[in-house]
Amino acid sequence: MFEPNSPHDRTPLAEERQGSVFTQEVAVAGPAKGQFYIESYGCQMNFNDSEIVASVLAETGYQPTSDIDQADLILINTCSIRERAEETVRKRLQGFKKLKRKNRGLLVGVLGCMAERLKSKFLEEEKLVDLVVGPDAYRDLPRLIEKADDGEKGLNVFLSREETYADINPLRLDQNGVTSFISIMRGCDNMCSFCVVPFTRGRERSRDPFTILAEARDLFENGYREATLLGQNVDSYKWENPETGEVVHFAQLLEMVAGVHPALRIRFSTSHPKDITDEVLETIARHHNICKYIHLPVQSGSSRILEMMNRTYDADWYKGRIEAIRRIIPDCSISSDIIAGFCSETEADHQETLDMMRYTHYCMSYMFIYSERPGTLAARKYPDDVPESVKKRRLSEIIELQHELSASHNEADIGKTYEVLIEGDSKRDDQEFKGRNTHNKMVIFPKADGLKAGDYVFVHITSATSATLRGQIVRPD
Ligand code: 5AD
Ligand code: SF4
Repeated sequence: MFEPNSPHDRTPLAEERQGSVFTQEVAVAGPAKGQFYIESYGCQMNFNDSEIVASVLAETGYQPTSDIDQADLILINTCSIRERAEETVRKRLQGFKKLKRKNRGLLVGVLGCMAERLKSKFLEEEKLVDLVVGPDAYRDLPRLIEKADDGEKGLNVFLSREETYADINPLRLDQNGVTSFISIMRGCDNMCSFCVVPFTRGRERSRDPFTILAEARDLFENGYREATLLGQNVDSYKWENPETGEVVHFAQLLEMVAGVHPALRIRFSTSHPKDITDEVLETIARHHNICKYIHLPVQSGSSRILEMMNRTYDADWYKGRIEAIRRIIPDCSISSDIIAGFCSETEADHQETLDMMRYTHYCMSYMFIYSERPGTLAARKYPDDVPESVKKRRLSEIIELQHELSASHNEADIGKTYEVLIEGDSKRDDQEFKGRNTHNKMVIFPKADGLKAGDYVFVHITSATSATLRGQIVRPD
């Protein structure tokens, strides 16, 4: 099975990942039209979008394939968050040239953030591309494919204020059958100065909560035991019932989804420090099945840099939110996104970031070098003036500190017992299971008779590295 990067890595919303493809045969509706191969890059939202695309295509008679040589249509769902993510996609596209020479009828489509950012320029720059489709235009794919079949290039990068794909049941083609993702909103209104997402994914809009509930129930009935609610900023989820005017905020949505079944675990990503409310924290604390884990990106520990980043909070505000989490959910793990070398960052600013990491004691962080993105507020306003070598050194100091923090977190778990949801066989040894605890930590342990993926077990932790915990199954205390 082709699994370069499992969709079950809990990467944050805009973390770039290398391509992953669907691998499962599915029943399709309508007359057979051909086979499509889809490869996804970037954040979890993108991977979830590919499942929406697969659903739209299957409805019109296309069959997914994991064998690129068999495909009549290759789709590549792209990421623009950092320059390197775009370079990876461009290289990958070059690799398709050979396939096009072999199969004259083969169509190549570019979806997602790069399609949105570059629009028709993509068609000019990359001659082998037949379709360019932005994140809000996936319903239009069948029409665009037909056009491209007739030799006309297809382009739709219209950004919508309403599209949430609420009625589309994503085609679940991921492999473990236990954990899955539900998009609850799209777009972002925050305008962090470094970030291209508001330009590529458009205005923020929230999905009808009843369709979210229906999707969660459907997942549970199909054997899934964990659903991660996805949004660029889940704390600003807000849906107004058009008939009654009643408003559903994120805390209420969490409560509703937690009520689907006590054995359906709920996670969510990503939270924004300015928006995460005590009500949300209290809801998490009240429900056993809402995981005690919050991904709360700080980006920088320096208030001056945070202001330039337009994050709309300062270091003290962030610390206040950490205190609220500790008070309301005493046993909660916290992770972060951190950017090294943002415009004008001094050594003192960098030290403040390291101090913030020590203060919060992150269990895990996604750490990046600042990459200037065309069109963003920072690109227009501030010179990208931290030398590459300084950015790299600061990033390696951040990584080193995180490594220490993760190791000390995991060491402190030795001797504790956690409820673990079994996700499948461990990668290295099929005599062992892997699963995660409430804190999103991977736990490896020897198998026992009668247990399978999707079961919950209690595991006593006996050893740890900075990446994983190991233990033995025990009876609950
Ligand atoms: N350069 C580096 N990192 C970035 N991120 C977003 N935009 C950029 C950029 N231009 C990081 C932020 C965000 C994460 C998903 O990606 O840390 O939280
Ligand atoms: Fe980008 Fe900020 Fe929106 Fe996250 S919250 S997607 S970093 S603009």
